[in-house]
Amino acid sequence: MKALILSGGKGTRLRPLTYTGAKQLVPVANKPILWYGIEAIAAAGITDIGIIISPETGEEVKTKTGNGDRFGAKITYILQDKPAGLAHAVKIAHPFLENAPFLMYLGDNLVQSDLRLFVDRFKERNLDSLILLCTVPNPTAFGVAKIDEDGRVLELVEKPKVPPSNLALVGIYMFSNAVHNAIAKIQPSPRSELEITDAIQYLINQPNSKVEARQLEGWWLDTGKKDDLLEANRTILDACLNCTVLGEVDAQSQVIGRVQIGAGSKIINCTIRGPVTIGTDCHMENSFIGPYSSVADHVTLIDADLEHSVILQGAQVVGIHQRIVDSVIGQRAQLKVAPRRPKALRFMIGDDSQIELV
Ligand code: TTP
Repeated sequence: MKALILSGGKGTRLRPLTYTGAKQLVPVANKPILWYGIEAIAAAGITDIGIIISPETGEEVKTKTGNGDRFGAKITYILQDKPAGLAHAVKIAHPFLENAPFLMYLGDNLVQSDLRLFVDRFKERNLDSLILLCTVPNPTAFGVAKIDEDGRVLELVEKPKVPPSNLALVGIYMFSNAVHNAIAKIQPSPRSELEITDAIQYLINQPNSKVEARQLEGWWLDTGKKDDLLEANRTILDACLNCTVLGEVDAQSQVIGRVQIGAGSKIINCTIRGPVTIGTDCHMENSFIGPYSSVADHVTLIDADLEHSVILQGAQVVGIHQRIVDSVIGQRAQLKVAPRRPKALRFMIGDDSQIELV
């Protein structure tokens, strides 16, 4: 069995971060989102993994993620020249997939579940497709499945006005080679994409086809938007963080609860209340770093007060005496109090940035 991870796309919902980087590389608890998926797939025993990349962010994904050695897997990168849909990604990956059954994973999704259970089920039942579902409170925002009492899928509907169930499609699917024929038969949707839901519906409509669904027991997070990203960060910090302090913490600082501090980081006169993860080579001084914060490598925080936020690599927050909450601060961004007068706000803000002042 092979795996195909989709790490192309436009990432419009996570702008401005995605103007300069891949959304799948945005860190959650200081690890790229994409890597959680690779780890889960490798843990399920699938080590031949293809990753779909885009011309804009593909090099960064490749350089950062590598050939798979660090995951005990072999990674093949597949360039998709435009984001023409999830089924289009499968189509261009056909030479890599050959006719092997495969697991398809959307690279911006995070799930808490042992994928092996689903892989085993797919193999045992000799299915054409197995899709994973999760109950959601707002099914109108998702692809939704109608299933019978045996778990057979009857119908898939994209963002339904009247949802047939509250079971949303999680971004994890398993397919036999029958999906390639289904994709060859479907047409692009009104948004000009080859939709995987149309390909699955085609499979469902074939006599004797076997398309089943299983529900995830754990959580599922789609990290497409800022608040999703913060929720993913909170969930992962809650579930997975161990205490490791490799950096230097001075005697005036207080470290409370589960806190990770990377090598080369200096903590001077700070209070850090976990769960918090801090990367390597950071400088933190006279600051409060509150629960559910993730601070990437090379970040400077001086006279800052932070909670439930994600700070990306190389950012600087200096002299902001108001508490920063629910925030995502991009790579190398600077948030400082200007020493000069007249007292005024001065900005250089990237496109699509959001700032809320009080
Ligand atoms: P989406 O989140 O549906 O699409 P997107 O990345 O274009 O994001 P946005 O809605 O914010 O503009 O895609 C799900 C995953 O699949 C994501 O990791 C990107 C990837 N993808 C591809 O690799 N190729 C594609 O053609 C599409 C549509 C998505």
